[in-house]
Amino acid sequence: MILERRPDNMERITTIELAEAFVNEQLTALKDQIGDKKVLLALSGGVDSSVVAALLIKAVGQQLICVHVNHGLLRKGEPEQVIEVFRNQMDANLIYVDATDRFLDKLAGVDEPEQKRKIIGGEFIEVFAEEARKLDGVEFLAQGTIWPDILESEKGIKAHHNAGGLPEDLQFKLVEPVKILFKDEVRLVGKALGLPDNMVYRQPFPGPGLGVRCPGAITRDRLEAVREADAILREEFARNGLEGKVWQYFTVVPDFKSTGIRDGERTFEWPVIIRAINTKDAMSATVERLPYELLEHLTQRITTEVKGVNRVLYDMTPKPSATIEYE
Ligand code: XMP
Repeated sequence: MILERRPDNMERITTIELAEAFVNEQLTALKDQIGDKKVLLALSGGVDSSVVAALLIKAVGQQLICVHVNHGLLRKGEPEQVIEVFRNQMDANLIYVDATDRFLDKLAGVDEPEQKRKIIGGEFIEVFAEEARKLDGVEFLAQGTIWPDILESEKGIKAHHNAGGLPEDLQFKLVEPVKILFKDEVRLVGKALGLPDNMVYRQPFPGPGLGVRCPGAITRDRLEAVREADAILREEFARNGLEGKVWQYFTVVPDFKSTGIRDGERTFEWPVIIRAINTKDAMSATVERLPYELLEHLTQRITTEVKGVNRVLYDMTPKPSATIEYE
């Protein structure tokens, strides 16, 4: 049976055994709901859509069609991991769309943050809708809606991002198999389904991706600098036992250059800003006290390995007065 709301007395899923029981119940319910029809899913590689994909692959196999849109603003290795885990390991029916040029061309010269977000969100729906129109006989759209999304949209805090944005000619019935779960429960269900830890326990990553960490008008070279610096930061955090301990950490490359020196020659390049914060609910945040040696090592690696960068700065600002992201 598909539950529309989380029952008040529902036991919190805190163990793998409880997660497995939830999975088994959902597999039966999903098979009943979907029958022999086709289901479409926008698979971002985030926790919620990944868990929904893994559940549906188990329930209806090739009747699930996953669409992974690479908007060019993903972190290093992310599209590759989605393809590896879902297409190669789980044998999913996965359509991969590299729409990088399309997004970056639309974003060229746009420096206003809200305008950037609108372009990214609007273009995403357009690319997804184009793929959906190429398919025949899809009846359902699966979504990674979770319980806090429903509560927040009921309280008017935020509209939960759902099929709402799809054009009129694409109206599907919804399948939302994790909508009565809290985030920690979704992670355990993902683990029970065999998804890798770095997918299940990953830090939050905004929908507009690296686009909001490249403040001002996005250029390909600065985007590349942000992506490479972020990969180094994540590698060093993992190596130093900070992965899973620090709530969110990332790099930003602002749109200004400063003078530096390398091999006796003047340089004029960007800084990389490191941000590492802890929070409970993202409404306020404190800054992680990173070891000085690690900051020095990060500075050394980033200024030698990332093209176009000659300085590294550590953002010491809590929220408030700053927000977590830069745009
Ligand atoms: P701020 O910057 O508002 O961020 O302090 C709070 C949390 O929300 C994430 N965030 C976003 N997530 N789309 C998202 O999906 C967005 O546009 C967006 N903006 C911020 C941010 O990463 C942090 O965890």
